[in-house]
Amino acid sequence: MWTIGLCVVALLVIYCTHLVRKWKNPSCNGVLPPGSMGLPLIGETLHLIIPSYSLDLHPFIKKRIQRFGPIFRTNILGRPVVVSTDPELNHLILQQEGKLVEMWYLDTFSKLFNQEGESRTSAVGVIHKYIRSLSLTHFGVETLKKGLLPEIEDMIKKTLQMWSTQESIEVKYGSAVMVFNYIAKHMFGYDDSENTSEDKISEKFTKISEFLMSIPLNVPGTTYHKCLKDREKATKFLKDKLEERRNSPDMYRGDLLDQVIADLNKEDKEKFLSDDFIIAVIFGLLFAGFESVSKILTLTLKLLADHPSVLQELIAEHEGILKNRRNSDSVLTWDEYKSMTFTLQVINESLRLGNGAPGLLRRALKDIEFKGFTIPAGWIIMAVTSASHLNPDVYKDPLAFNPARWKDMDPYLVSKNFMPFSGGTRQCAGAEFSKLLMATFLHVLLTKYEYVPVFVAGLLMAFLDLNFLIIGGPESREDELFEVLC
Ligand SMILES: *[C@@H]1O[C@H](CO)[C@@H](O)[C@H](O)[C@H]1NC(C)=O
Ligand SMILES: *[C@@H]1O[C@H](CO)[C@@H](O)[C@H](O)[C@H]1NC(C)=O
Repeated sequence: MWTIGLCVVALLVIYCTHLVRKWKNPSCNGVLPPGSMGLPLIGETLHLIIPSYSLDLHPFIKKRIQRFGPIFRTNILGRPVVVSTDPELNHLILQQEGKLVEMWYLDTFSKLFNQEGESRTSAVGVIHKYIRSLSLTHFGVETLKKGLLPEIEDMIKKTLQMWSTQESIEVKYGSAVMVFNYIAKHMFGYDDSENTSEDKISEKFTKISEFLMSIPLNVPGTTYHKCLKDREKATKFLKDKLEERRNSPDMYRGDLLDQVIADLNKEDKEKFLSDDFIIAVIFGLLFAGFESVSKILTLTLKLLADHPSVLQELIAEHEGILKNRRNSDSVLTWDEYKSMTFTLQVINESLRLGNGAPGLLRRALKDIEFKGFTIPAGWIIMAVTSASHLNPDVYKDPLAFNPARWKDMDPYLVSKNFMPFSGGTRQCAGAEFSKLLMATFLHVLLTKYEYVPVFVAGLLMAFLDLNFLIIGGPESREDELFEVLC
């Protein structure tokens, strides 16, 4: 009896040791990048989840670069990951979209098309094209020029007017709601003021970002649980909207929702078009819009408050625009927007420091050889593009807020080392929309109002919380959907 028991224990020990060894030394047809895989199952997740309160690279990444170099392996939530801060590898990954790597969000959509290899890659291409053309039609440069600019200015004037009657405003949240309301109105005729109840849907949406930085533990009382509930409500809200519009064709307005319903009704519609797909796309567009703009706006206001001379120069630029007008009350024009050179430098500098897309997630389709290392097929690659934003060889004194540096940046270096809205084969369709919104916001704010930061520490914290990514967890991932648009 005893011997059998001992044998079982011994076997178990051997088996576990084997598992742990396998965990620590994953199989690979070559040399894996250096690194540690952390604890079994959770890997190094807990290290990554610690928020960072500075503009510098997340300590998780910084420490490992010092120890292992610019490319290292780790494990996050049970998935083997290679983190790359190497600009050449990141560039390669962005260029080889669909060949060496694919976007990871495809896990979510993979049931929509059960193809493999070539046809799968081309299916992905078709989906991208569809979403891109959708967002360009409704938020692209031509649309902005034609009519959105005065609408956006008007919306910002109303928002700031309302803010100015309040004692203080939490900028990240307030601007997220502002952008959400605008995009939602534009996409499906949502009117936030229709609802006086506390339970505004904008709140559900804008709180969802907390979800990305919470530990995926679905137990009542946790942030994660609450966010899941909020997301359920938000999804249901969109489903109801879709249903409502479909059942009353007389509500036709020609907005984005009408366009997708028309596409869904086509005889020869694209295979991937379904209610769920449409809802995921609308979700993604909303999220991409308010999340990036509110984050960068908040950071800009904070940085401007810390740098009075930059603020003065910026105010001078906007007052100059008013002076050059025949009637200083007339609306902002496209040419005026394009003439805001310094404003656009300030926005670039905030985008550089704020890192809208701190890391891009891809999955290796085949073994990738790079500088003597092998990234095995199936592994996740996290390309930390923000590392290029802080590269001292490109940006002197990289942590300094210095908009003037953009005066004489080499366009070639910029194209390789500045990826605020993702990069590669896709330039973000919403990039111009986001910049225009921020520039217009600054224009109205600086020509009509003054602001004083209160509780600055809280502001910085709220802002920087999103400076890291969490891999795994929820089925549908807003931050990846963000990339779909790009
Ligand atoms: C208004 O609030 C109610 C109650 O939560 C909600 O069911 C409804 O969808 C909201 N409507 C709008 C337009 O936000
Ligand atoms: C801002 O960055 C973009 C690249 O994303 C560049 O094309 C543009 O010239 C920059 N703007 C200014 C004012 O430097």
